[in-house]
Amino acid sequence: MRTALVTGGAGFIGSHLVEGLLARGVAVRVLDDFSTGRRDNLIAVQRHPDLHILRGDIRDAQAVGRALEGVQVVFHLAAFVSVPGSIEDPLTCVDINERGTAVVLEAARQAGVQRVVLASSAAVYGDHTQQPLHEALPPRALSPYAASKVAGEALAQAYTRMGLPTVALRFFNVYGPRQRPDSPYAAAVAVFVERLRRGQAPTIYGDGHQTRDFVFVADVVDALLAAAHAPADAAGRAYNVCTGQAVTLLDLLAELYRYFPKAPLPDFAPPRPGDIRHSVGDPTLAAQVLRFRARVSLAQGLRRMLRATPA
Ligand SMILES: NC(=O)c1ccc[n+]([C@@H]2O[C@H](COP(=O)([O-])OP(=O)(O)OC[C@H]3O[C@@H](n4cnc5c(N)ncnc54)[C@H](O)[C@@H]3O)[C@@H](O)[C@H]2O)c1
Repeated sequence: MRTALVTGGAGFIGSHLVEGLLARGVAVRVLDDFSTGRRDNLIAVQRHPDLHILRGDIRDAQAVGRALEGVQVVFHLAAFVSVPGSIEDPLTCVDINERGTAVVLEAARQAGVQRVVLASSAAVYGDHTQQPLHEALPPRALSPYAASKVAGEALAQAYTRMGLPTVALRFFNVYGPRQRPDSPYAAAVAVFVERLRRGQAPTIYGDGHQTRDFVFVADVVDALLAAAHAPADAAGRAYNVCTGQAVTLLDLLAELYRYFPKAPLPDFAPPRPGDIRHSVGDPTLAAQVLRFRARVSLAQGLRRMLRATPA
């Protein structure tokens, strides 16, 4: 891999991937429409001679075609990312995540790209009660966002058959520096940190015993790189990117209060409709086939996150 395209490269996960690729000597193109991404996310590398940032929409075949010149590997991360947002505006979600993914895959096929690695989500498992969640379970989409990720995986699988190797990665709850706390639907870790920093009580919806599989963003970057380098027979499938550790929201907060001992205790509110009780992934398949294993513990990841984002 000499040159990679990262769609959504100005976003939370994408910007960490861009830094990781540049640090490994890979030239990077970013294609992003800056709808949720920010130029500031790339501030540390913005003057790097091997980084080219293109403003454009993944649904624009010409823009994608231009971004693909000389590219061997595509990391397709750009997406409509909000689950509740997708319930409010399903058509935009489907247009970006399904048609946009089709445009990227087709342009990659025409450009003779060697591999496409695409971001899917643990949301495809829906409310399966069997834990840990493993890849053999049938998808159970509960929102247009989840359905669009299932469709993206299916398209990618078809393109593998059509001669363009693809690998889909189902990210669980990713956390780390640069995650936005400023949307009403932002991820728990970013919202909790923001509230505690301001000396405000975090809100727990439900009893706090619901579990999540929190995976640090540097581990997600490792998974993306592992998927790009995995043997040819890894293609055409989806893999969990998770730790396999069930962490309750109360565990998460207990870890965070070590940094904010004076912050007020959490408020409890009724569970939100559609909230999933348990979501823990099985990391076995990714370990066997991609040779990926998450290495960063929650305590280490939170420390790195808090250090990287000074108050
Ligand atoms: N953060 C998580 O916990 C998590 C979990 C599961 C899956 N994912 C997936 O990982 C990927 C990255 O998510 P993130 O958390 O970094 O979100 P993010 O919002 O920070 O990144 C998404 C990026 O895509 C860009 N984008 C959106 N629509 C676009 C379009 N039409 N054309 C071009 N660019 C567009 C945005 O500007 C942004 O930079 C997404 O595919 C998301 O669905 C994330």
